[in-house]
Amino acid sequence: MTAPAPVRTPLPAALAGQHVLILGGSSGIGLAAARLLAGAGARLSLVARDETRLKAAVGTLPDGTAVTALTADATDEDRLVEVFRQAGPLDHVLVTAGAASRTPLAETDRCRVRDAFDVRFWGGYSTARIAAGQLPAGGSITLMSGVYTVRPVAGAAAAIASGAACEGLTRALAVELAPQRVRVNAVRSGVVDTPPLRRRLHVSDADPAEADAAVAAAGSHLPLGRFGTAEEAAAAALFVMANPYVTGSVVTVDGGQSLA
Ligand SMILES: NC(=O)c1ccc[n+]([C@@H]2O[C@H](COP(=O)([O-])OP(=O)(O)OC[C@H]3O[C@@H](n4cnc5c(N)ncnc54)[C@H](OP(=O)(O)O)[C@@H]3O)[C@@H](O)[C@H]2O)c1
Repeated sequence: MTAPAPVRTPLPAALAGQHVLILGGSSGIGLAAARLLAGAGARLSLVARDETRLKAAVGTLPDGTAVTALTADATDEDRLVEVFRQAGPLDHVLVTAGAASRTPLAETDRCRVRDAFDVRFWGGYSTARIAAGQLPAGGSITLMSGVYTVRPVAGAAAAIASGAACEGLTRALAVELAPQRVRVNAVRSGVVDTPPLRRRLHVSDADPAEADAAVAAAGSHLPLGRFGTAEEAAAAALFVMANPYVTGSVVTVDGGQSLA
């Protein structure tokens, strides 16, 4: 009989010294999670496709952070296996790789939907499958979902369906991996101010103050009067990683966007 899940402090302090791999760690929510985890004293393996962006992301972490940068495409399962081998023993895995392109149904052929699923769902699936064979009791896998899965907008079917699939996968794997005391959760984030949002709003980096003002104006109609920050979404990932009694949960951090 397997021992029960270990009891330890459920606060982020529990993550000190733990090794966390973030697939999608060079930008947005993944990079924000890396910064929070570095602050908590975790060791990091950051994974993404673009080496230059990865190096720049590593450069933004506090001095002394134990971090390894590894390039991989989430759609390449063989490369993911190699990345896990290079990273060595892990305690937690967070998957934020994904991109939310928006197109109306008439312009969204199966290829586009497949592309969305390839990264977000199949990338998450492959990562979870590799991680499941390696994580220790109390370890965790965290996937990303989004508020549109419960409060959809038109023209985002591929992104919404792939996010919803990640929520289903989360619950399925939480049950399947519970006997080995590995936990699986998802963060259902509201719209967050990260590079994809700024691209969607056509906000230019040329004048940062003007860009911030444009983002603020675009989010002012939301219940709390603004979009979320990457750090606010990432903090939910740290919560589910650290708390040894959380599994199968989809934690919503959406500033009330699902209610409006
Ligand atoms: N921002 C939001 O408003 C929001 C809301 C709800 C849900 N989400 C979801 O949260 C996740 C993160 O969003 P974000 O806004 O933080 O995005 P982001 O800033 O664009 O960051 C995405 C990260 O994933 C990496 N990535 C993308 N495609 C990849 C691939 N095929 N293989 C490996 N790495 C890949 C990117 O680096 P490379 O491009 O170099 O690979 C980058 O590090 C996404 O799944 C998104 O759909 C976001």
